[in-house]
Amino acid sequence: MYSHRSKVSTKIMALSFIFISITLIFLVHKLYHRLRFKLPPGPRPLPVVGNLYDIEPVRFRCFADWAKTYGPIFSVYFGSQLNVVVTTAELAKEVLKENDQNLADRFRTRPANNLSRNGMDLIWADYGPHYVKVRKLCNLELFTPKRLEALRPIREDEVTAMVENIFKDCTKPDNTGKSLLIREYLGSVAFNNITRLTFGKRFMNSKGEIDEQGQEFKGIVSNGIKIGGKLPLAEYVPWLRWFFTMENEALVKHSARRDRLTRMIMDEHTLARKKTGDTKQHFVDALLTLQKQYDLSDDTVIGLLWDMITAGMDTTTITVEWAMAELVKNPRVQLKAQEELDRVIGTDRIMSETDFSKLPYLQCVAKEALRLHPPTPLMLPHRASASVKIGGYDIPKGSIVHVNVWAVARDPAVWKNPLEFRPERFLEEDVDMKGHDYRLLPFGAGRRVCPGAQLAINLVTSMLGHLLHHFTWAPAPGVNPEDIDLEESPGTVTYMKNPIQAIPTPRLPAHLYGRVPVDM
Ligand code: HEM
Repeated sequence: MYSHRSKVSTKIMALSFIFISITLIFLVHKLYHRLRFKLPPGPRPLPVVGNLYDIEPVRFRCFADWAKTYGPIFSVYFGSQLNVVVTTAELAKEVLKENDQNLADRFRTRPANNLSRNGMDLIWADYGPHYVKVRKLCNLELFTPKRLEALRPIREDEVTAMVENIFKDCTKPDNTGKSLLIREYLGSVAFNNITRLTFGKRFMNSKGEIDEQGQEFKGIVSNGIKIGGKLPLAEYVPWLRWFFTMENEALVKHSARRDRLTRMIMDEHTLARKKTGDTKQHFVDALLTLQKQYDLSDDTVIGLLWDMITAGMDTTTITVEWAMAELVKNPRVQLKAQEELDRVIGTDRIMSETDFSKLPYLQCVAKEALRLHPPTPLMLPHRASASVKIGGYDIPKGSIVHVNVWAVARDPAVWKNPLEFRPERFLEEDVDMKGHDYRLLPFGAGRRVCPGAQLAINLVTSMLGHLLHHFTWAPAPGVNPEDIDLEESPGTVTYMKNPIQAIPTPRLPAHLYGRVPVDM
């Protein structure tokens, strides 16, 4: 009995010793960090949680407010993890140009780490030989102008299908004068476009019904969002992860489910290629035929396919939804874009992507929407692979760096009347939005700039062009244009909090509202 008690108290003493030692090491490390580095100022962090509980849900707005107190570069602790947020065009340039290579790693949460197999994809890969290889593959093979053009019929099929569905719904007798939820129609275009682009499959039939594989795909996407949205604190305090093993199991199950579906689709395409000898333009066929040449593991092929889905589906829907909200709120702009479409296209044919060069105002509308409402307002987090200096402050190796592109694009120091939705500003001054002008960075800049930018611009412009050429859009009954609510919802990607509802009125002859289907 006595010896048992003594064993227990020895154990307690040992545990206390370990605990005190860890705390001491932690405090000494913190002190060393503080004395050695001149870190950007910021709100005072609490032990363990840091500033996590000070951050408002719509993070980029909160960070823009904090910049007013702490300056254009500030520190914020997610748990014990140092994050640095920059809020001006000059600092964005320091991050994305002058220190690009040293700030090109990624911070991976547990779900991101698990699903990317420790960064063996593109989005979550650290900068290094693997990243350089897959990025080269993206630039030279997947996102070439040639492939973009070859895939145009798919985009035009989906955009015309959207027009047909809106037309059918708004001309139903009992729908006269009723508003539609625009997001539903945009979501279908994005869903079908991205699944056809990546998986070479249209999971939805012409009645809008989704087949079994498509249901499984949707289930995986929504489960992924559920898993990704959990556990913010445990993600930033590594030792807390030991207490959340349940989530690890859910992740393993989720990733097995995702891989099962993807492998099934990959096998179908391998079989089809063997039968017909024909390689299609979509990404599964491209990746499988290039797998040996680029020495890609199956994990990388699967990871890349899902990267495109994660990065390319919501972002397009979000951009067009915000643009439509602004166009309903600003009837002057809507009318001006329609006048341009009528002048260039007329009223006896539909628009095509080949018309873009003759539609400068329409292009400016898309750009202005991306300026005021970038779908990823804080881009994706970059991580320092070496200590660097930004704005005269030290950014130690391992810090996470965010560029608040939303705030930069509304900075009155670089934009005239920044809160006004005025596409003409880009006719007066041509501002690049693909990473060369640090005032406007919806797609980021530097080596991690979005590889899908041109594809996204084409799809967004095409959707907007068709929506405006085919319909006039008025606010929902009883809503004044100026009262349309432009609040954002929280999240890595920024949807409207209250989705725009609007009444479409057809403005072209009825025979121009049919889908132009293509089988590819
Ligand atoms: C309007 C639509 C889109 C916007 C605003 C957008 C924006 C962005 C941004 C801000 C980044 C992060 C850049 C950085 O970390 O510095 C990114 C990365 C990425 N985007 Fe896009 N994107 C869009 C559409 C697409 C589409 C359609 C695809 C592909 C089909 C795509 C594929 C990717 C990939 C693979 C990455 C990761 C690149 C890397 O880490 O190296 N994006 N995008």
